[in-house]
Amino acid sequence: MLSRFNVDYQVVDQDLGASLAQEQLESQNQRMVTERATARSISFTAFHRHAEINAYLDELAKAYPSRVSVENVGKSYENRDLKTITITNGDGKSGKNVIFLDAGIHAREWIAHAGALYVIYQLAENFAANAALLKDYDWVILPVVNPDGYEYTHTTSRMWRKTRKPSGTCAGTDANRNFDFHWGEVGASSYSCADTFKGVTAFSEPETQIVRDLLLKLTGRGKFYLTLHSYGNYLLYPWGWTSDLPSEWRIIDEVAQAGADAIKSSTGTKYTVGSSTNVLYAAAGGSDDYAFGVAKFPISITMELPAGGSGFNPTTAQILPFVTETWTGIRAMALKVIDKY
Ligand code: ARG
Ligand code: ZN
Repeated sequence: MLSRFNVDYQVVDQDLGASLAQEQLESQNQRMVTERATARSISFTAFHRHAEINAYLDELAKAYPSRVSVENVGKSYENRDLKTITITNGDGKSGKNVIFLDAGIHAREWIAHAGALYVIYQLAENFAANAALLKDYDWVILPVVNPDGYEYTHTTSRMWRKTRKPSGTCAGTDANRNFDFHWGEVGASSYSCADTFKGVTAFSEPETQIVRDLLLKLTGRGKFYLTLHSYGNYLLYPWGWTSDLPSEWRIIDEVAQAGADAIKSSTGTKYTVGSSTNVLYAAAGGSDDYAFGVAKFPISITMELPAGGSGFNPTTAQILPFVTETWTGIRAMALKVIDKY
């Protein structure tokens, strides 16, 4: 059909179904190797299930009780526990500024969940090397915003993006179109079967309500909101709903650019920096616009990690190089934020 309409194309995978099945086997085997080799439920040589990720958070809270705590912040539509991990330096000072990081708003973007786990691993288990990131700041991390969708990509349909609550004809809402800030105005669908379905109402999904409540609770202390997605190598900032830039765009651009520069000089990987609308596309109802526009986080960035495999499916061998590179960028952005606020 592409040839018939004279559209240029390139085959990236002859049989995506077969490749995905093969990868699932590999990840399963790697997971078993991990279980035998370490005391932790996760590794960076496999993609881990939601239950393994939550178990890891609890293991850290148990191993480092003075610095790490885990909170149940609510339940997904299918009743899975959403957990945040709060990592501090254990000096007991309260009311510090906060960096809030989340991942997995979109189910199929598995490298994002892995990236959040690597940040958690570094801050909690490699604490001494990262003390500067925790001196005047606490980190709150929600590594799996959309566990129902994530589990569905493991059990049923690898390329699922949305949540899983039925609405209308189909299941699932695009959680990153569901936030109540210029909701549904642009780049979002009203059709429940579409991948960018905005939801029946703003905040129709329990998972986006949970992120909303976390963000609003942090207003004032929350200085940096970072949300991990894949793929495309972008560092995106507000606005996603209009091509106008917020008046504070220069400072956000400086933070994002610090991330891109750090990555460029460590691995040579290039990231595109700019406002969502201007460098990617207009799409309203995103968590980044909400964090910035409503919860008043002065720095709010969406990081689109690199593509692997045919895009959303990096091989297990790509996990570690991708997440370490991502960490280099996150670290540089965090240091810049800490320096500014
Ligand atoms: N790929 C992401 C999405 O489609 C980009 C989001 C950027 N932010 C925004 N508010 N449009 O959800
Ligand atoms: Zn995404």
